[in-house]
Amino acid sequence: MSGKKRDKILVVDDQESMREFLEIMLTKQGYQVVVAKNGEHACEILNKDTFDLIISDIRMKNIDGIGVLKKAKAVNSDAMVVLISAFATAETAVEAMKEGAYDYIPKPFKVNDLKRVIKDALKSKTMPKEESESSKSRFHFDTLIGESPQMRKVYDLIQRVSRTKTNVLISGESGTGKEFVARAIHNLSERRNRPIVVINCAGMPETLIESELFGYRKGAFTGAVADKEGLFDVADGGTVFLDEVGELSPVIQVKLLRVIQERTFSAVGGTDVKTVNVRIISASNKDLEKEVINKNFREDLYFRLNVIPVAIPPLRDREGDLILLAQHFLEKFSLEMGKDIRKMSTYAMDILSQYSFPGNVRELENIVERSVALETSNIILPESLALSGLRGGGDTRRSLRTDLGPEGIQLDEVMAQFEKEYLTQALEIAYGSKQRAAELLGINLRSLRYRLEKLGLPAEDGS
Ligand SMILES: Nc1ncnc2c1ncn2[C@@H]1O[C@H](COP(=O)(O)OP(=O)(O)OP(=O)(O)O)[C@@H](O)[C@H]1O
Ligand SMILES: [Mg+2]
Repeated sequence: MSGKKRDKILVVDDQESMREFLEIMLTKQGYQVVVAKNGEHACEILNKDTFDLIISDIRMKNIDGIGVLKKAKAVNSDAMVVLISAFATAETAVEAMKEGAYDYIPKPFKVNDLKRVIKDALKSKTMPKEESESSKSRFHFDTLIGESPQMRKVYDLIQRVSRTKTNVLISGESGTGKEFVARAIHNLSERRNRPIVVINCAGMPETLIESELFGYRKGAFTGAVADKEGLFDVADGGTVFLDEVGELSPVIQVKLLRVIQERTFSAVGGTDVKTVNVRIISASNKDLEKEVINKNFREDLYFRLNVIPVAIPPLRDREGDLILLAQHFLEKFSLEMGKDIRKMSTYAMDILSQYSFPGNVRELENIVERSVALETSNIILPESLALSGLRGGGDTRRSLRTDLGPEGIQLDEVMAQFEKEYLTQALEIAYGSKQRAAELLGINLRSLRYRLEKLGLPAEDGS
C-alpha cells in the first residue's frame, strides 16, 4: 500500500501520566508519536529529528515550554508548536505567541479541543497559500461572509430576487446585516449602475422624512429657499432602501403607497407629478405583521412592500459562521490598525462560541475590533476578549431562567448554580488567578475563597 505519510508528533511533558495519556490518545488517532520527559530531553531529540507538530507543556523545570518552542524554531523556523498549561498566565501565553507558537491550550482541556487544534495545526502546515486563498473565497457572497445552510438560503434568495423588479422586505434582529443584504441585492441587479439610496425612517420627524424622500419646492416652508430634489429623484432607475420602515407615519405611508402603485410622486409644496422607476427594499426589526394587526401600519402598503420576504437568521443560529466572521473581522481590523494578528486562540474562540450575541454580527464586529486594539501578541487571547466588553452587557453565557412556573423552584439551589457558573467562568478567564477572578466578579479575595469553599470548588492555590 502506498499509504499516506503519518504525521509525526513530539510530546513534551514532565508529568508521566499526561505524557502517557497524550501518547495513547494520539497513537490511536493514527499519528506517529515520540515522547520527551522534559525540556532538555526534547532539545536532544529536536537536534536529531524533525516533527510535523510539537506539543509541549509550558511549566517544566530548567527548560520550559517556551524554551522548547525557541529550540524548535531555531532548528526549523516552520516548526508547529502547541503549548499546554494549567498556569498559562496571560504573560506566558503572550510570550508563547510572540515566539511563534501556533496555539496554546489551557488545562484542563477537553480531548476534542485538543484534537481539533492538532488537526488545524497540521492542516495549516500542509495547505499551500493559494489554496487557502481560494477556499476562503468560497465563504464570500458578494461582501457577505458565512457559508452556513441558513445563510446559503439567504444568498439563494438574494440571487433570485436580484433578477426581478419586485419589492423586498428584509426582516431580522438588529445587526444581522439587513443593510448589507439590501446592497447585495442592488449590486447584483441590473440597477447596479444607478444609485441605491438609504434612508432610516426611525427617529426623524415626519416633515423631514417627507422632504427627504420627495424633495420640496421653493417656499414650501420657512427655510425652503430653493427647489430641492428628493431621494426618489436621485434613485430613479435604482433602489431605495427604507430602513425601519415600520416607523413611517400614516401620512407618509399613503404617499409611499402612491409611489408604488402609480409610480408617481410630488415634491412637498409642489403640484407637478413626477414619474419614477425605483425598486423599494425595506427593512424592519419590528414585526410588521403585528404592526398591521395593531393598525399601526397600512395593510395595503405592507403587501406592496412585502412581495418577497427575506428573513435573515440571527448569528447564533448560523452553524459554523461565527468562526468565519470572527476571522474576517480579525483580518480586517488587524490590517486597518497595522497589527500582525493572525487568528483567535482556540480558547478565545470557545468563549465567543458560548456567547449568544444579541447584537448579532455588528456586536461581533465591535468585540473583535476592540480585542484587536487591545491585543499585544499576534493571536487573540481570552484576556483581550474579556476586556473588549464581551461579558459587560449583562448577558450570561447560558441565560438565566427567571420564570417561576406553578411547580416552583428551589431558590437556594438555583442561586448556588448561578454563583458556581460565574465563579468558574471568572477563574477560566483569569487563568486561575484568584485575585483577577475576584476583580472580575466585583468581590474581594476573601469572599471569593469563601464562596469557592462553600460551593465545593477548589479554594486553595494548588500547583
Ligand atoms: N454576512 C456578513 N458578512 C460580513 N459582514 C457583515 C455581515 N453581516 C453583517 N455584517 C457587518 O455587520 C454590521 C451590521 O450590518 P448591517 O448594518 O447591515 O445590519 P442591520 O441588520 O442593518 O443592523 P440594524 O438593525 O442595527 O440596522 C455591518 O457593519 C457589516 O459590516
Ligand atoms: Mg441597519
